[in-house]
Amino acid sequence: MTRGRFITFEGGEGTGKSTQAARLVERLAARGLDVLRTREPGGSPGAEDIRALVVSGTAERWSARTELLLMYAARSDHLERTIAPALEAGRWVVCDRFADSSRVYQGLAGGADLELVAALERGVVGERQPDLTLVFDLPFEVGLERALGRGAAETRFESKGATFHARLRDGFRAVVEANPDRCRLIDASGDPDAVAERVWAALEPLL
Ligand code: TMP
Repeated sequence: MTRGRFITFEGGEGTGKSTQAARLVERLAARGLDVLRTREPGGSPGAEDIRALVVSGTAERWSARTELLLMYAARSDHLERTIAPALEAGRWVVCDRFADSSRVYQGLAGGADLELVAALERGVVGERQPDLTLVFDLPFEVGLERALGRGAAETRFESKGATFHARLRDGFRAVVEANPDRCRLIDASGDPDAVAERVWAALEPLL
């Protein structure tokens, strides 16, 4: 059994990546691939419980370091219970957010110790790095307006202020620059059909 492919979607708030992840899964399934769509924080029962703690409440509810540890507790469970078994069974996994979100939200934008971020990534993710990471890029004002327009209950991160959201965009772009083999920057502006074609073009080398 060959191991499945592991693809992650990353970016700031309201970039449309969740919609695009769903579209990609449909397109891969139409090709006959067995694809699991999952998300972080969450994706396993325990990790979904942790998600409820981190995405609601006031912005100051958790420090960046505590948030980082909660994200990694959730990721550890998600990897053990959901992602690794699926990949080992030969399934493809499309995950809405993964370790780059911790690097950027808690580390580069949030101010958590970058050595601690890297140590957790080594210890928990290790060799299980994504085969491909698509980073959705959009002016943060546009994304934030879209995200807040959804009227969702999970608004803790959206409420962190403009400086934080500007840092997110810069942080994700820095991750792409530092990991050119794994990451592709996707222009998330404009028509969703056009964005879907950009996603497909980035993915085709894996097929
Ligand atoms: P979502 O809005 O894409 O579902 O993600 C939920 C929130 O969790 C989002 O605001 C980003 C945040 N997040 C982190 O801060 N660090 C992480 O490691 C992950 C996976 C998500």
